[in-house]
Amino acid sequence: MGWIDELLQAPIVKGAARGATNWVDLQWSLLIAQLREVAPLAHGTLLDVGCGEKPYEDFFTPYVTSYLGVEHEASFSHTTAATRGKKPDVLYNGERLPFADESFDTVLSVQVLEHTERPQELFAEMARVLRPGGTLLLSAPFSFRLHEEPFDFYRFTPHGLREMANRNRLDVERTMPAGSLWSVLGHKFNSYLAFQVADLGAVTQRLGKGGHESVATNKPRVWSLPFVLPTMVLVSAAARVLDRVLRDDTEALSFMIVATKRVV
Ligand SMILES: C[S@@+](CC[C@H](N)C(=O)[O-])C[C@H]1O[C@@H](n2cnc3c(N)ncnc32)[C@H](O)[C@@H]1O
Repeated sequence: MGWIDELLQAPIVKGAARGATNWVDLQWSLLIAQLREVAPLAHGTLLDVGCGEKPYEDFFTPYVTSYLGVEHEASFSHTTAATRGKKPDVLYNGERLPFADESFDTVLSVQVLEHTERPQELFAEMARVLRPGGTLLLSAPFSFRLHEEPFDFYRFTPHGLREMANRNRLDVERTMPAGSLWSVLGHKFNSYLAFQVADLGAVTQRLGKGGHESVATNKPRVWSLPFVLPTMVLVSAAARVLDRVLRDDTEALSFMIVATKRVV
C-alpha cells in the first residue's frame, strides 16, 4: 500500500489512527464500553472461550487470578489473529472444551457463539466448565454484517441467550444491548463506506483491527478518503446522540449477558 504503509510505520501516526478508528467503529467502542463495565464482575480463574488474540485481557487481569484463552484450532487458523498479537493458551477441535467440569470461576466469550455450527453445544460446554456460583460474561451479535466467512452461522436475541442459560442452570442477572437503532444504522452505513467504497479492509488490519477476518491485501481507494473519512466521523457522532435521544431498544448490534451458575 506504498505511502500509507510508510506513514503507519511511525508509532505516533499508527496510535492516533487506531484511536480514531476505534472511536468511529461503533461496534468496537460500544463493546469495549460494555466489557470495561462488566470486568469487575470477573473473579478467580477466567477462561476466555474463542479468545482470538486476547484483545480484552488487560481489562480483566486486575480482577482475576488467572486468564486462560482457548481457541478452535481450525477456525482460528483462518483468521488474521493467528498471524499476529497474543496467542491462545490452548487449541482444541471445537467439540468438547479440554477442561474438567466446574474448573473455572469466570467464563468470558465475546462474539464467538455465531461462529460454531452448534452454538447450543458450545454454550453447554461453557456452563459445564463453570463452577457453581461462577459467572458467565457472554456477548453475541444480533445485527452485524457477515464476517469470518464461511464460519459465520447465527445471530442471537436476548431471549435465545436466556433460554440457553436456563437450560444449563444459569440465571441471567443482566442483559445489555450494545447500542440501539441509530448505532445499527450508523455502523452499517460506515461499514459500507469503509469496506465497499474506500476498500479499507487491509488498512484496518494494518492498524491491528479485523483480527477475525482472513488476511486482506486490497489497496484502498485513496481518492474517496476526503469524502469517506469525515462522513464516517459525522455518522458515528450522530448515531451516539440519536441513540440517547431517540432510543429504540428493539435494535442493537449485539447483546451481552451476565449470568450466574446455580448452586444446587
Ligand atoms: C469474531 S472472532 C472473536 C475473537 C475474540 N473473542 C475477539 O472478540 O476478538 C470468533 C472466534 O471464535 C472462534 N471459535 C469458533 N468456534 C469456536 C469454538 N467452538 N470454540 C472456541 N472458539 C471458537 C474462532 O476461531 C474465532 O477466533
